[in-house]
Amino acid sequence: MRRLMAGVLLAGGLAAIAPAVPANAASFSEIVPVPVTATPASGVTFTLGSGTGIFTDSLAVGNYLAGILRPSTGYALPVATGAGTGIALRLNGSDPAEGYTMNITAGGVVIQASSAAGLFHGVQTLRQLVPANIESATVQPGPWLIPGGQIVDYPRFAYRGAMLDVARHFHPVAAVKRHIDQMALYKINYLHLHLSDDQGWRIVIDSWPSLATYGGSTQVGGGPGGYYTKAQYQDLVAYATSRFITVVPEIDMPGHTNAALASYASLNCNGVAPPLYTGTNVGFSSLCTSLPVTYTFVQNVVSEIAAMTPGPYFHLGGDEADATSPAQYATFMNQVQPIVTGQGKTVMGWHQIGDPAVNHSASRIVQYWGTTTSDTDVTSAVNRGAKVIMSPANKAYLDMKYNAQTPLGLSWAGYIEVQTAYEWNPGTHLSGVAQSAVLGVEAPLWAETIVTTDHIEYMAFPRLPAIAELGWSPWSTHSWTAFRTRLGAQGPRWTIMGIDFYRSPQIPWASPPGPGNRFEAENATISQGVVASNHAGFSGTGFVDYNNVTGSYIQWTVNSAVAGPATVRLRYANGTSANRPLNINGTVHDFTGTGAWTTWATRTLTVNLVAGNNTIRATATTANGGPNVDYLEVDPVVPTTRSEAENAVISQGVVESNHAGFSGTGFVNYDNVSGSYVEFTVNRTASGPATILLRYANGASINRPLNVNGTMLDFAGTGAWSTWASRTLTLNLNAGANLIRATATTANGGPNLDYLEVQ
Ligand code: ACM
Repeated sequence: MRRLMAGVLLAGGLAAIAPAVPANAASFSEIVPVPVTATPASGVTFTLGSGTGIFTDSLAVGNYLAGILRPSTGYALPVATGAGTGIALRLNGSDPAEGYTMNITAGGVVIQASSAAGLFHGVQTLRQLVPANIESATVQPGPWLIPGGQIVDYPRFAYRGAMLDVARHFHPVAAVKRHIDQMALYKINYLHLHLSDDQGWRIVIDSWPSLATYGGSTQVGGGPGGYYTKAQYQDLVAYATSRFITVVPEIDMPGHTNAALASYASLNCNGVAPPLYTGTNVGFSSLCTSLPVTYTFVQNVVSEIAAMTPGPYFHLGGDEADATSPAQYATFMNQVQPIVTGQGKTVMGWHQIGDPAVNHSASRIVQYWGTTTSDTDVTSAVNRGAKVIMSPANKAYLDMKYNAQTPLGLSWAGYIEVQTAYEWNPGTHLSGVAQSAVLGVEAPLWAETIVTTDHIEYMAFPRLPAIAELGWSPWSTHSWTAFRTRLGAQGPRWTIMGIDFYRSPQIPWASPPGPGNRFEAENATISQGVVASNHAGFSGTGFVDYNNVTGSYIQWTVNSAVAGPATVRLRYANGTSANRPLNINGTVHDFTGTGAWTTWATRTLTVNLVAGNNTIRATATTANGGPNVDYLEVDPVVPTTRSEAENAVISQGVVESNHAGFSGTGFVNYDNVSGSYVEFTVNRTASGPATILLRYANGASINRPLNVNGTMLDFAGTGAWSTWASRTLTLNLNAGANLIRATATTANGGPNLDYLEVQ
């Protein structure tokens, strides 16, 4: 045996290795929100390379784009105002507000717009056209292929918002900035900050300092709470502005004010400050509408916040004012709305301010948060000239649980799975409200149960992108079938960005790309081996030479989000050898060399990984006995996706719910028809091993074929028809759509089906 010797090989002595083309190079059919038109140019590709420059009429947007692309490509990507080859961002478009046009040819990318906001939104689209690894914080191998074609795009609604409740639990500046960056990905342009509530006051008001220092000193559950200084708030506003997002501050009143009332006894009708509140009830607190100091207080608060807020809106809440009478409510709002307009801001409020007894204030906005499809307060406001932002709680509230198992959130407005969040039309949702009266949509995230950044992400993703698409994309493009596939393509990006998202079983999540999971040997834990770079064709910055020591090893720790089958590839020098163990979590896999030490070979294994850390070690068993190693690649384990039979394509079968223990909303009964079938389409980004699990009625039967892409697999029943059984099969699935069809072969001959799970 002989290892690669320094100086023995000439450049080119190793087999040429084709560059790793990402299995899931991005495509025009993966963009969220879907553009107005996206026309791919077949066979045309632009490759982002080390010589690419960014030539821009907006240095801010150009520098932002470079900031996105540099960490993962490792390229310099100089930003300049002149002309050149690469990516051009031009303010010479005639696109509608916030719109852009993008042309991608083999020679480069040109984004045109009439505003910097349009260029910025075009940049978000461009990000989604580069392979998902582009979102990595560390240098990745590429190549950075961008599919050619043309996109013309502009928003359906001017207002596309997300709301963060920083009152029920305080969320620090860094968490809000992270959320802002995630909002920008999907062209959301307003951040509504719910800055005060019963449980906390979160912004410094100089004229009423105890609001923050005392009123902000706790939160739901009694934690330490917190507040933004004026400098921090202004920093947040500036950060949002740099992402073309306008902050809408909300001070909720006259209800939801216990934190203020606790901070100042003088604000209470009885002159007694209540204690701070850390529970989750609503509707018990109110500013004292008959006290003059109340309006001084509002004047001071509104003017100090308005002075720090460049955006046009001030949100004065107005919801759940159950501790005031209707007359007190109208009196209060009729004094407070002019305070807001007097500070140069347009009034925004929850839709209760549309009450006919509350005066119309010029251009005001009512935010609909009800769960019905008609509302007299909203129509009253609209008939007097108000515009509406649609946040129906049973569709757009990000704090509603996805289903009964969701560990976070509330459910008073129902469960909101992704399809529910997507399947409604903001332009027609409320009767008596014409689309022309709808300014846009907003997805509020109330934070009674939302404590950490992970919590924010788990509830916002993937529903926030669904609401974003309702706000941006023309209704004519609306399609759940197309959306779920496009949304599934976002999954690898979120994984790479570290976004903790809910892996909804309704979505065909794409796997992260292989090259993104390449682990160079030179970056692994190396015992006595040495990093060498004296042979051609290695990947990364070198390879590891075992250094002639028996037992010398290279060890990787590979973290997997979930347990399950994964494809592992090792690239090593191919000299013939009797024993070259690769130890994966204690199981030894031998891999053989078949040729010369002077060539690299790649061996692929399918192994089960555990959730969490997996230890993978390649060891030399004799001096000179271990192959030099270039890299390890691990394809991530695909999370399990459950497809309910009742949502599949059903021929003559019927959906039933008359037997205990089914999952979802029912199961499928084959309906006593021979040939009756249930067919699932399972989308995979890459071909490879998969585990499929079918849950079916367990009655003994001679022939129950499961057709997987044309291969017939039988699955047996072993017991009573009245019980459910699960059968697991491991097989290879194709990249793209896989057809899995369970068929009844005789009348009564097919098992009733509950669901299919694929990992
Ligand atoms: C609200 O959910 N109370 C606006």
